[in-house]
Amino acid sequence: MTKYAETAAQIAREAAGIIEDLRAQKIGFELKGDADLVTIADRQSELHITARLRQAFPTHAIVAEEGNNKSSDSGYRWYVDPLDGTTNFAHGYPVYNVTMALEKDNELIAGVIYDPTRDEMFTAEKSGGAYLNGERLSVSKAQRLEDSLFATGFPSRKRHQNINIHFYYQLAMISHGVRRGGSAAIDLAYVACGRLEGFWEFGLNPWDMAAGKILLEEAGGTATDMHGAPHHLITSRNLLATNSHIHTPTLALFEDIFSDRSPFRIPEVSTYQR
Ligand code: IPD
Ligand code: CA
Ligand code: CA
Repeated sequence: MTKYAETAAQIAREAAGIIEDLRAQKIGFELKGDADLVTIADRQSELHITARLRQAFPTHAIVAEEGNNKSSDSGYRWYVDPLDGTTNFAHGYPVYNVTMALEKDNELIAGVIYDPTRDEMFTAEKSGGAYLNGERLSVSKAQRLEDSLFATGFPSRKRHQNINIHFYYQLAMISHGVRRGGSAAIDLAYVACGRLEGFWEFGLNPWDMAAGKILLEEAGGTATDMHGAPHHLITSRNLLATNSHIHTPTLALFEDIFSDRSPFRIPEVSTYQR
């Protein structure tokens, strides 16, 4: 590993230690909007990560979810999600992680996702491959939607505007199933390592996607927007990530859904037989 991935992995482990200590103390949560949770663990993890990044790479810019940002014209920019899966964490549901990624001149060059609940460290570097606890990883070989397992997510912000339930239903009908784990970075890591064939979500932020995107691409996967256009970290908030093999049929299904030609109809509640 280069110094970037290695340092980021070390910092992610340290931040996860802070998070796990706070979990043991059963801390509460606050609301950031009408349903968006934040905890002291998010804030303390971010303070630690950003202090360590400033110390290790003083010329780099930082974009961090809880606002500990730093500007710089060095061309290097870190994206930091100090706790991805806060709602899970706040409820004691063990699916969350610490993630950060580095961009140079608008191209991702390194990313890490650390899941302390399973002690799983995912790392990737541009043209250097993707790894899980040091073992090279790659996407699954499944070729058909019918043989695929998916994950998706529903952001807590502006829930009433989210159309994802339509996509959820169609994919759930056609595939082996759709999981909703509550941590976008872990969903992406799982596509990269072959535990899932695909993941999609509307309304993500760059720090949710950055590390998972480079991990996925280094593992042989494909990331686009919902219409198949190249995915851009800042301007594309909607992401479809797959093992590459099922990308085209997933996009075809998405086009049907967008055009109101969904193959499966949601049954009327009135048809329910007790
Ligand atoms: C959230 C999680 C969740 C996804 C949301 C994200 P946070 O991140 O990744 O799975 O559905 O869109 O905002 O707020 O827990 O860091
Ligand atoms: Ca997140
Ligand atoms: Ca977060």
